[in-house]
Amino acid sequence: KGEHNDKRGALIVLEGLDRCGKTTQCSRLVSFLEGRGLSVESWRFPDRNTDIGGMISSYLANGSKLDDQTVHLLFCANRWEKRSLMENKLRNGTTLIVDRYSYSGVSFSAAKGLDIQWCKAPENGLIAPDLVVFLEISPEEASRRGGYGTERYEQLEFQRNVAKHYQILQDSTWKVVDACLPPESVEKQIQELALESIQSCQNKPLSALWH
Ligand code: TMP
Repeated sequence: KGEHNDKRGALIVLEGLDRCGKTTQCSRLVSFLEGRGLSVESWRFPDRNTDIGGMISSYLANGSKLDDQTVHLLFCANRWEKRSLMENKLRNGTTLIVDRYSYSGVSFSAAKGLDIQWCKAPENGLIAPDLVVFLEISPEEASRRGGYGTERYEQLEFQRNVAKHYQILQDSTWKVVDACLPPESVEKQIQELALESIQSCQNKPLSALWH
């Protein structure tokens, strides 16, 4: 079969409030899996390297005014524009470690007051993750971690609201990890969950959100 790998890769998503440690944990996980000789790539949403991503980035930096529905659809379109590449990578045996995905998309927009079903609808048909690691931290604790940056959503009251909506979205692919444990311990738990998922996804076809 030449280069083609007949085992598919796993779609592994890390989610959580701003400052929960996702980005650090994503890169540690990628290094760990690479060290095991696995084919793995680090992804993130928003992907700020596309035209749509540029619009999102400018909005987050408070550089542009857009209404909530428009922003929601931009975040969503930013996932859609990556969907076919994502599918190709997974089918070719590459595991993707993704920093945020549709759960951020729905939770952040619903926290602004948009209807949750309306928020979910355009995410329909994106690839469903095999594993979602939710790094749990209280909004108060997250805000104490070196403080928030200057982006639009990094405010305590808003993050509280996001946390509520994450709760509503939890499904059977979620594994909750306590983000306040020592980082090495968080790292170890995520490694185990990821290895398990990479093993078990091989018997499962790719599926779609939100079924
Ligand atoms: P980042 O800090 O991970 O780059 O994400 C930027 C912000 O965008 C973060 O506050 C979460 C938010 N966000 C959404 O509102 N909707 C989405 O679909 C995604 C992926 C992120």
